Amino acid sequence: MGMNYIKSGLLCTGLVLGVVTLGVGFAQDEGTVAMPNLAAKDVVIKRGMSEEAAKCIECHAKKTPGIVEDWKNGKMAHASITCYDCHTVDATSPMASQCSGLKGTKTFISPMVSGKTCARCHPTEYDEFLKSGHADLSRAAVYDEKKAGGKLVKLQLHYEGAAALGVAAGSGVNTASRTSGCAVCHGSVVELGPDNKPVNSTWPGGVGTLYPDGSVGTCTVCHTRHKFSVAEARKPEACASCHLGPDHPDIEIYTESKHGQIFLTRGEEWNWDAAPGTWQPGDYEAPTCAVCHMSGIGELKTTHNVNDRLKWDLMHKRSELRSGARGDGEKGAKLMRQVCINCHASSLIDNNEQTLDNAVALYNVYWDGAVKMKKELAAAGLLAKDPWQDGFQELMYYLWHHTGRRARQGAAMNGPDYAHWHGFFQVFQVYSDMKAIHDKRLETGKIEELSPVMSTGPI
Ligand code: HEC
Ligand code: HEC
Ligand code: HEC
Ligand code: HEC
Ligand code: HEC
Ligand code: HEC
Ligand code: HEC
Ligand code: HEC
Repeated sequence: MGMNYIKSGLLCTGLVLGVVTLGVGFAQDEGTVAMPNLAAKDVVIKRGMSEEAAKCIECHAKKTPGIVEDWKNGKMAHASITCYDCHTVDATSPMASQCSGLKGTKTFISPMVSGKTCARCHPTEYDEFLKSGHADLSRAAVYDEKKAGGKLVKLQLHYEGAAALGVAAGSGVNTASRTSGCAVCHGSVVELGPDNKPVNSTWPGGVGTLYPDGSVGTCTVCHTRHKFSVAEARKPEACASCHLGPDHPDIEIYTESKHGQIFLTRGEEWNWDAAPGTWQPGDYEAPTCAVCHMSGIGELKTTHNVNDRLKWDLMHKRSELRSGARGDGEKGAKLMRQVCINCHASSLIDNNEQTLDNAVALYNVYWDGAVKMKKELAAAGLLAKDPWQDGFQELMYYLWHHTGRRARQGAAMNGPDYAHWHGFFQVFQVYSDMKAIHDKRLETGKIEELSPVMSTGPI
């Protein structure tokens, strides 16, 4: 009958069969009825979807072919999940608008799609995600002025945004450092214009983005649109767009570790496409970020809560056992062991945990010493009011935020160069400079006039 019928894995109720013409051959599912001789260009696909949904695809195949090509190669397209399922919204939604192809119809759409839309079909993944540091906590790190005590705003908007040089507070120029940097990783607070479309560089945003309908989360940071692939999220590259750089060099640490070396050497041969939840040792030889932090392995189930398997807090000023919103450290340590035990002896795992515990304790000795010095300077009135104009306080920031994180995370994930040369070696150097400033201030009773510290130095 001149048609290629694709059997649908999932048919939503109330759907009728529509006919869609696509520019190029459509990937075929199992169960596809053999196609008569037709030039690939003219393939006509009849599949389970509403006429309205078919129209979106038909027109977008011409107008935005890149999106349709990508979508049709994904698993969800094969299960008849279409543009219509993810992009249509109620006419009353604060995000409701219409693209040029829908003007005059009763269908409203939005270019914004939060995790809540995915939750209609993937509720477990969404619930886990919402409990993780990737959701509200992530955005709060950039937007919650109360939580950051005003200091954050001072750094971001006053200095980085050049309010100090006269740029109008709150303007697009003033917030440019936030929207081009912090918010792309952490998430933004999306603002809308009069046509219900996102404005002020606040969309698309990072992992913890808050949408105008109150929903949270950008799932595409790991499963990029429009393929939404599980294989992609299993690769370390999925995490590397954010977990890199001087203050959290996780991808650098990983590629330095033996695990990363094995991935670099033979990763291309691994089986990345195992069905969700069935990806196990044998499909891969060494763990990726996902294996240790998210994927099911052995007895462990997949989780979208990346805090579940963590013991320590290795990102804040002092490392403490995780509790409250950051997770449960005791439980986290046990779960992480259950990852390693699939490939290692308990003696190796014990030693490795001991290495991390000791590294955390060593770092905390430096941090506690720094806090003591700061208290002494404060008591003597020898701290500048503005921490960004005070060499001692600038160094204290680098101590925990850069060098101290590298030392701790390098020790946690088996990256010796980060644990030592970029880590503890520099922790000790920064600390000694702080000590020298501390001693000099107490000796002279004065804050040195010019900061001897290059705060933008290669620390
Ligand atoms: C499984 C859900 C899903 C399906 C199916 C889907 N999209 Fe999307 N789409 C998304 C998500 C998620 C985003 C990113 C939105 C965000 O960051 O707020 C997006 C973004 C977009 C954007 C704006 C971003 C850009 O790059 O310009 C367009 C346009 C778009 N989709 C069109 C389509 C079309 C056309 C189809 C059908 C062929 C489609 N989408 C199918 C979820 C989906
Ligand atoms: C007749 C052609 C046509 C049809 C039908 C059509 N679109 Fe579009 N759509 C476009 C064009 C062209 C654009 C880009 C220009 C624009 O934004 O209006 C667009 C833009 C979009 C965007 C991005 C909007 C934005 O604000 O950036 C989304 C999302 C989208 N369409 C989804 C859909 C969905 C879902 C359907 C089906 C319910 C659909 N479209 C039906 C032609 C069409
Ligand atoms: C209307 C229901 C529905 C919605 C909405 C939906 N999905 Fe899915 N999704 C499915 C179904 C059904 C499958 C299984 C497809 C298969 O394995 O054949 C699936 C599979 C997946 C997979 C596994 C793909 C793979 O490579 O194995 C991912 C990842 C995924 N969805 C992410 C998302 C994201 C992210 C969103 C929101 C942007 C979303 N889904 C929205 C129904 C949905
Ligand atoms: C779009 C950017 C982005 C991507 C991609 C990303 N993350 Fe994150 N991740 C963050 C941010 C931002 C934080 C810090 C959250 C906060 O402020 O509490 C974070 C925190 C974490 C934490 C610590 C959570 C906590 O609260 O202590 C872990 C573990 C983690 N990510 C693992 C991963 C893994 C594994 C991947 C890839 C599979 C990944 N991330 C991909 C941005 C990202
Ligand atoms: C390249 C992506 C990226 C950029 C840009 C970025 N961050 Fe982060 N940030 C992260 C990641 C990843 C973590 C988690 C680090 C860890 O676990 O050690 C993090 C952690 C944090 C934390 C500690 C977690 C918390 O919730 O208390 C704060 C605060 C923070 N970032 C604020 C900011 C601010 C403010 C900016 C911009 C001035 C910014 N970040 C820019 C990726 C980024
Ligand atoms: C930090 C990266 C990351 C983010 C963010 C993320 N995922 Fe995933 N997701 C993964 C990884 C890794 C897997 C693969 C697990 C495995 O190995 O089977 C996965 C698997 C899935 C699957 C397949 C079924 C399963 O649970 O294994 C679905 C569905 C899915 N994700 C949906 C979502 C949705 C919905 C969101 C947003 C709420 C989301 N993901 C956000 C990394 C991520
Ligand atoms: C061999 C398993 C393993 C691999 C592979 C791995 N990690 Fe980790 N990761 C750990 C362990 C163990 C910790 C420390 C857990 C604890 O607190 O006890 C950790 C800590 C972290 C933290 C610090 C959270 C905090 O407290 O600030 C982040 C972020 C992180 N990993 C992200 C990643 C990313 C991104 C990758 C890939 C580039 C990756 N991990 C690869 C095991 C792994
Ligand atoms: C999928 C299997 C797998 C998992 C899971 C795994 N590893 Fe490994 N690991 C390996 C392989 C393979 C090597 C390389 C061994 C060698 O160097 O000959 C390795 C090497 C190491 C090394 C370097 C020392 C050595 O033996 O050469 C350490 C340390 C290590 N792993 C710790 C861990 C920890 C801790 C975990 C859990 C958080 C973990 N691994 C999870 C497979 C795994």
